[in-house]
Amino acid sequence: MNTKTSIHSASGSNVNRRLSQIARKLAKSRNLDTDLVREQIFDAIKRINAQTALGYLTYNGVLDLNLPDGTKVAIIPDWHIPAHDRQVAWMVKEWLSDFKPHVIILIGDAADMFGLSRWPKAPRVVANVQVELDETRRIVDEVIEISGCLHLFYIMGNHEDRNRRTQIDPNASVAGLLDPNTHEPILNFHQLMGYTRQDPVTIIYGPLEEGGFGGGILVNDDFKFIHGLKVRSKPGQSPYAESLSQGQSVGHGHTHRLGKRVRKSTRFDVLRAYEFGHLADETHAYMGYAVNPNWTHGLGAGLVHGGKLHIQLMPLLKVKDERKVTRSAFSFNGKFYLSTGY
Ligand SMILES: [Fe+2]
Repeated sequence: MNTKTSIHSASGSNVNRRLSQIARKLAKSRNLDTDLVREQIFDAIKRINAQTALGYLTYNGVLDLNLPDGTKVAIIPDWHIPAHDRQVAWMVKEWLSDFKPHVIILIGDAADMFGLSRWPKAPRVVANVQVELDETRRIVDEVIEISGCLHLFYIMGNHEDRNRRTQIDPNASVAGLLDPNTHEPILNFHQLMGYTRQDPVTIIYGPLEEGGFGGGILVNDDFKFIHGLKVRSKPGQSPYAESLSQGQSVGHGHTHRLGKRVRKSTRFDVLRAYEFGHLADETHAYMGYAVNPNWTHGLGAGLVHGGKLHIQLMPLLKVKDERKVTRSAFSFNGKFYLSTGY
């Protein structure tokens, strides 16, 4: 099928016809079932991916991603591996294996990069950057495997950006060194993670290769994912401020808060503002800077329909099971997910 992939530069804003429209038109012209054609398009994307024609191992800026109706998207906020909540991670993996998203978006701070933090570190807290990278790579690979997703987008957060900042000061002299095999800057995050163009992964930086600020994904010209920049004190306020300033529906992590605000106005269509919470272990030594934070564990599930990404925001709640063991829990699609006990 001669279907052009629908990933292209946002700056050109030459939005391709959406795959869903193509599927409908193709189906109509050939008297075929629309769902069948859509499945074939998914297969085509899979093949294109296998041939690395999606092509972006990295992307600087806002990636314009057009997804056909029926695409399922998992949105995973600040995981802070290896300071992630391990009990919750089991539950998230179980959910991914059931949900089977076509696309996964990590919205930043999936890796904590504590070893490169400039904050004073408590004595006896072990920091090993290589262990952190290995653990992040292992879990991201596991997530791809378990979910069977077609592609994973990994937006750089301010924590991954610790790696870039370390190169500016004090190691600027080595920042430009290239890997002799890949010709990629040897210390860039994607290079340290070991991903290549053969992997179904795109790492998204800001325009200046920074993390946490300018990079993101714009889905169907409608909903933008970023790591998060504006920080307000109450849940829902941060993405709301962001969405108002951009005149754009926005979802982000970064604040570790979970909230949603929606605004209908004559100037905009319905503006949706979501912050997705986090999946870190709040009691981990790496999270020592947070004292009684108003954070919430959470994640998001999206489904494209009518060209829009419809998002379900899921807070994870602490519950006691029948043996009085504390667990995290959420429900999705009529099923109840429980973490292992704390
Ligand atoms: Fe974070």
